[in-house]
Amino acid sequence: MVHRCRLDVHGCLPEEAGQAYRRDGVIVIEDFVAAEACDALRQRALKLVAEVAPGAPGTVFSTRDQSHAKDRYFEESANRIGAFFEEGAFDAEGRLCVPLDRAINKLGHAMHDLDPVFDDFSRGARLQAVADGIGLVSPQLVQSMYIFKQPGIGGEVMCHQDSTFLYTEPQTVTGFWFAIEDAHRGNGCLGGIPGEHGKGLREVYLRQPDGKLAMQPRQPGLQWDMSRLEWLEVKKGTLIVFHGAFPHLSEPNRSAQSRHAYTLHAISGAADYPAGNWIQRPDSLGMPFRGFV
Ligand code: FE2
Repeated sequence: MVHRCRLDVHGCLPEEAGQAYRRDGVIVIEDFVAAEACDALRQRALKLVAEVAPGAPGTVFSTRDQSHAKDRYFEESANRIGAFFEEGAFDAEGRLCVPLDRAINKLGHAMHDLDPVFDDFSRGARLQAVADGIGLVSPQLVQSMYIFKQPGIGGEVMCHQDSTFLYTEPQTVTGFWFAIEDAHRGNGCLGGIPGEHGKGLREVYLRQPDGKLAMQPRQPGLQWDMSRLEWLEVKKGTLIVFHGAFPHLSEPNRSAQSRHAYTLHAISGAADYPAGNWIQRPDSLGMPFRGFV
């Protein structure tokens, strides 16, 4: 069973949670965020949708192939705030068939550096204490995503490892997954396979010499033991922390309830962060990666 804990009275991660993290590649920290803070982030995310989504590719019906515009928009969102649609938000003719605030799959990928409410939520002594407890040295926040998992249309996420998409040498990518609403089997909670992070990485998505991003196999035959999959049903305010090689997934949300979650990805500032990673922060941008404090 995936280890469940709370921060102790001193605001530290209990010793056994650190051990469980090393063993399983995942821990669940209950009551990590106050309900009011979750509600404030939810409200802010909906405000950002109203601001950003009307300009995102896909909002206006077009007979032209929009894949180039979508690819460019995605890549530019590395250091911006972009809105991305659920596939199920469109009818057969490509027209939006649900209201805008029910159509967005996620916001990404730099809210933690660009939006004051997200910035505040993404940092602080409690998060630093978790990083200390799991041995993440000099954490640097690289990416944020607000995931809506919309009622009825929130799509399935296949089993994957987050370090496929953000890569360091050695592997230090760590996911911080905050339940902004209750997450359960009915609305598409997270599932994962504890211990399987020890098998390493299956594939990496890196920029190639021609400038395009592409998937490269690392261990093409790597199989995960799906019979040991555990569903991580959690209450609003719970933080799930997982290793970059922890295989995880979520089912479609077929319920009438949304399942909002916020994720942060941190790396160790002591690790090498290759130039092939899709998110880059050149000095000219004036927005260097920052930590939890
Ligand atoms: Fe993931």
